[in-house]
Amino acid sequence: MLSIIPLTAAATAKVEDVFKANCASCHGEKLQGGMAGSLLDSTWLSDGSDKSLAEAIKQGVKERGMPAFGASLSDEAIRTLVVFIREAGYRADTQTIQTPTLNTHFKTDYHSVNTREITSTTGIIWAMDFLPDGKLLYTLRQGELWMINKNGKRVQIKNTPQVWHRGQGGMLDVMPDPDYVQNGWIYLSYSKKTGKNGSGQDIGITAIVRGKIKNNQWVDQQTLFEAPTKTHKNRGWHFGSRFAISGEYLFFSNGDEGHQNDAQDLKTQNGKIHRIYKNGQIPKDNPFYEQAGALKTIWTYGNRNPQGLVKHPTTHQIWSTEHGPRGGDELNLITKGLNYGWPKVTFGMNYDGTPITPHTSLPGMQQPIHQWTPSIAVAGMNFYTNALFDKWQGDLFVGSLAKKQLHRLRIKGNQVIEDEIILKGLGRIRDVVTAPSGEIYITMNDRQANESKVIALSPSQ
Ligand code: HEC
Repeated sequence: MLSIIPLTAAATAKVEDVFKANCASCHGEKLQGGMAGSLLDSTWLSDGSDKSLAEAIKQGVKERGMPAFGASLSDEAIRTLVVFIREAGYRADTQTIQTPTLNTHFKTDYHSVNTREITSTTGIIWAMDFLPDGKLLYTLRQGELWMINKNGKRVQIKNTPQVWHRGQGGMLDVMPDPDYVQNGWIYLSYSKKTGKNGSGQDIGITAIVRGKIKNNQWVDQQTLFEAPTKTHKNRGWHFGSRFAISGEYLFFSNGDEGHQNDAQDLKTQNGKIHRIYKNGQIPKDNPFYEQAGALKTIWTYGNRNPQGLVKHPTTHQIWSTEHGPRGGDELNLITKGLNYGWPKVTFGMNYDGTPITPHTSLPGMQQPIHQWTPSIAVAGMNFYTNALFDKWQGDLFVGSLAKKQLHRLRIKGNQVIEDEIILKGLGRIRDVVTAPSGEIYITMNDRQANESKVIALSPSQ
């Protein structure tokens, strides 16, 4: 007899336990197959879509002896099983990808690539960007801003703002103004401690400032955005936060700060992408500007933890990568006023394998352009437009933390038509930028060693 976890328990049951109790006897403990077929080999009875797998679990495959689970497992639990099957299949699929060693070259679909170490440092490099003259700025999450000069020498920029370095918080994004040569502005985001709550715990927010660098000092700082005091909370994760600049507008993301329901609440900054002018003023045509109680800076909502934000080089639309829970990382095209659904809609489940929702779509909620289940832990990204890698024109390079991968996406008419893993296994890739020379620079973090590297990719023969 199979021991079927009853419907009521399934709502909070962990997917590993649900699988073990209901499925492993036929499909094998590791999904490798046994009495029934393997769930790892990507050969399916039907089209292999999420929907057809969920349907097989719900209705069974009677003629082959697969029982129906629709009466004993909730839709949420069935969704977690689909994510679980995807995770296992992905592990099996990507096992054979070779990890290149540093300072050697390797082949990809369109280019052979050399890797070269630029720098290595203690701490977590969270973001980096080039100044027009080829100097490289980078942030260390513990609360520092550094610059690598053209001769390769590193200097720390002094007098940057004090950060709240806690969990995923600290010094976050750095971005020079597109008109940097004229105005010298550099934008910084960081998590800031703002006091204590009623129970004496520290509270904080994501703050957005701009300033200038003179004689290796941070000067002329202006505060551009700080959320209203009543929304400051005691949490240390999902701070976001990335910048994109389009014309006079500064877009910035703010993760849900660990309060997932905030993403649907227009009164808080959390789980949103915001739009302000570069000087901090708020555009009157923002979508919720006139709505009583709503934060006027909100541009989109229902965004869980957007760790990548970038302006498309020709359409000038804003794209974002959004860190999902376990499953359901997203690539989104960011459009004024839209609701991206978190946490009412997601392709993922909770980290412990319990369900969040059975819904991967709902009316009035925007679908991602692309989603990754299992999660690759999407981070920073960059559209490539330089002539150096001539066969990668217009492609989007996306870093992945958990899977330690660099993805190359080719996008046509708002559809991802290629998703190639061009690098795997060297480190957690948090940010990707193009150097003025056309080389692609990535940051890699090694969390255990508390060490980061900057690596340059260039074409090899
Ligand atoms: C009594 C044995 C048995 C049990 C228990 C069982 N299955 Fe199956 N399952 C099968 C058979 C037989 C098939 C038909 C295809 C095959 O042989 O692989 C199948 C097919 C499937 C398919 C469709 C595969 C495709 O090719 O489209 C999925 C998905 C699936 N099972 C998942 C599960 C999950 C999840 C559970 C647990 C909730 C489960 N199964 C429990 C026997 C079983």
